[in-house]
Amino acid sequence: MAATDLERISNAEPEPRSLSLGGHVGFDSLPDQLVSKSVTQGFSFNILCVGETGIGKSTLMNTLFNTTFETEEASHHEECVRLRPQTYDLQESNVHLKLTIVDAVGFGDQINKDDSYRPIVDYIDAQFENYLQEELKIRRSLFDYHDTRIHVCLYFITPTGHSLKSLDLVTMKKLDSKVNIIPIIAKADTISKSELHKFKIKIMGELVSNGVQIYQFPTDDEAVAEINAVMNAHLPFAVVGSTEEVKVGNKLVRARQYPWGVVQVENENHCDFVKLREMLIRVNMEDLREQTHSRHYELYRRCKLEEMGFQDSDGDSQPFSLQETYEAKRKEFLSELQRKEEEMRQMFVNKVKETELELKEKERELHEKFEHLKRIHQEEKRKVEEKRKELEEETKAFNCRKAAMEALQSQALHATSQQPLRKDKDKKKF
Ligand code: GTP
Ligand code: MG
Repeated sequence: MAATDLERISNAEPEPRSLSLGGHVGFDSLPDQLVSKSVTQGFSFNILCVGETGIGKSTLMNTLFNTTFETEEASHHEECVRLRPQTYDLQESNVHLKLTIVDAVGFGDQINKDDSYRPIVDYIDAQFENYLQEELKIRRSLFDYHDTRIHVCLYFITPTGHSLKSLDLVTMKKLDSKVNIIPIIAKADTISKSELHKFKIKIMGELVSNGVQIYQFPTDDEAVAEINAVMNAHLPFAVVGSTEEVKVGNKLVRARQYPWGVVQVENENHCDFVKLREMLIRVNMEDLREQTHSRHYELYRRCKLEEMGFQDSDGDSQPFSLQETYEAKRKEFLSELQRKEEEMRQMFVNKVKETELELKEKERELHEKFEHLKRIHQEEKRKVEEKRKELEEETKAFNCRKAAMEALQSQALHATSQQPLRKDKDKKKF
């Protein structure tokens, strides 16, 4: 038998033995202790609302929680999608809920919508990253950490009656591995009953054919399996929101009043608002929180740690050791650093050599140029010297000619001045 097999057998935990108790001990109160602790600690729930400007996001939130949250109307001129979180402390009976509503402001308003999903994905990842950083801290305080991870994304579909827009499909596809998506048809009072039925079928068909995974209400808990299974078949919920109260019979109900009638928000024949509230808040809020932690956050954490070089053992080998992985990563990093340093040094040497060669070439060129100019200069000088000599010769010849001319002139002058004297002498002879 190999040594590792022996080790594994000796490390294997013994099977626990079942024993019966002689009387009441009291640990059956554990679930109650858990409830009491959770109630004291309070809960947090974070909803992300994605849908085009003015689709009814704020109205629906106000209707769902039966209150008025502070909201600002978004303009249609946002340059890009911006995430705006707002946190509220709510209390119902003795249960405290820290509710964060995150609005994707300006969604669908840009001419180029290619990257509309990116700020949303980045925001969701940033919340996972914050949680991971807190988890990895030496002194962590996850107990009172304000968990901002998004538990549910309500995706508001425009009630066109046609089909989903490509922006909807792309965005939902990018988000489906990061968050629980519940698609809802907004302003469902603007679409007729028969059209709505066909629209729902079309939407679900498109989501399936494009491989978009939406949140499925869980059917593994017997207590809610039936209702959840029924509700899964009603997706996407067609909702109507209103904070206006209208008198119907002798009761005040939340509704939207039109000249031809009243749409009652909480009337299941009018819309699916009650179904949404039931599923989102009353039945599955804890499952949404749990799925966020165990599915979406776990996926983010795994990818992030793998990216950092951590790996689980492959079953047969030694169990995962943080220290060994860290050591291996450190060595890898150092050798990478050395390799980079050597590469840089080589690059520097090559650069210096190249520059040296370039300089030498430049020097040679300059020298050649200098020699060439020198030759031209000497040639010019020689020509000028020749010209000077020629001129000197000419000047000399000219001076000789000039001297001869002057001599001739003076002779001629002398001769003319002697002539009258001779004439006088000749006259006297006669
Ligand atoms: P921004 O935050 O500015 O993007 O808008 P929003 O999506 O929060 O929409 P908001 O709730 O401010 O509603 C915009 C308009 O739509 C208001 O006039 C609402 O009264 C109206 N509205 C909201 N819900 C419904 C609905 O279910 N049906 C109809 N017909 N109108 C609705
Ligand atoms: Mg709003």
